Amino acid sequence: MPEVTVTEHLLLHQKRSPAATGQFTTLLNDLILSAKIIARSVNKAGLLDVLGGTGEVNVQGENVQKLDEFANRVLIYRMERSGALCAMGSEENADVIRVSEKLTRGDYILIFDPLDGSSNIDVNINVGTIFSILRRKSPSGDDATMEDVLQSGTEQVAAGYILYGPSTMLVYSTGQGVHGFTLDPTVGEFLLSHPDIRIPERGKIYSVNESYWHYWDEATREAVGYFKGTDNERGKPYSLRYVGSLVADFHRTLLYGGIFMYPMDQRDPQKPQGKLRLQCEASPLAFLAEQAGGLATDGTGRILDIRPQVLHERVPLFIGSRRDVQAVTDIYTRHA
Ligand code: AHG
Ligand code: MN
Ligand code: MN
Ligand code: MN
Repeated sequence: MPEVTVTEHLLLHQKRSPAATGQFTTLLNDLILSAKIIARSVNKAGLLDVLGGTGEVNVQGENVQKLDEFANRVLIYRMERSGALCAMGSEENADVIRVSEKLTRGDYILIFDPLDGSSNIDVNINVGTIFSILRRKSPSGDDATMEDVLQSGTEQVAAGYILYGPSTMLVYSTGQGVHGFTLDPTVGEFLLSHPDIRIPERGKIYSVNESYWHYWDEATREAVGYFKGTDNERGKPYSLRYVGSLVADFHRTLLYGGIFMYPMDQRDPQKPQGKLRLQCEASPLAFLAEQAGGLATDGTGRILDIRPQVLHERVPLFIGSRRDVQAVTDIYTRHA
């Protein structure tokens, strides 16, 4: 198969979606350049001074890793100058970043988790970048408003992730299916490797941090128990796989099927809604899951229907194969 780059694929293989405007193509290309710069540092992390913590704590209450900080800086610097954005939201920044009027502003908003899976950096386990792209609602040229940023997942123009691992992959959708590209370092391009990814109807793997069992409610214990036991559609237990990097756990779920769960828990009264962030983690991955034929719920409702009230809103997440996620929502509905 001849090599197909992301730009060719966007222009040639996607129906003329609103996303395929010149501004969007520029946005995507600058995002890809940022990813290549981040990948270069991730792949050499042990040789550069990017391992370990910065000593700072971010708005999430987490210790910021040097690679979190580096990836965040690369994305903000480069994407602010793409000419396609009016605002950005980052997991690492407490407030919305409005593109300065000294720079060319565009009609899109980029919300991102610059580096997902920080706890795995120092032990060389997969990390990733997650992104969500919205179109502004307010008039072009004006300062972006909070309404431009706080949009529900159904409003996303595109979403995806870069997975830094044995190979560096870009997986994204503009609403016409989910497509995977693998970075060929000898060419310096992401080339189409996984066209039209479809998530299996039902899987054989469940993915959850079971150490929180004590902090879960009855419905959650029953939902997780469904996959550990034999009283399920398979008639036998699912395998447990848990990397601790959402992007890696999701990528495996997307390709192999099954379910990833991060339920609400009572560990930290400050974060009663679980740990994962709606706009820079759950919503972009929910967009991909649904585009690939899967589902994503907070236990009772569709993730994409949730309209964020604040930028760093947290949400419980159950995402993956349609029948496996359906089994969970049936259990929560019975407990409601
Ligand atoms: P981040 O590194 O961007 O803060 O995200 C970490 C998240 C996610 O990657 C993963 O699924 C989850 O943290 C793991 O949390 P636990 O350690 O509580 O299982
Ligand atoms: Mn973090
Ligand atoms: Mn994350
Ligand atoms: Mn992160």
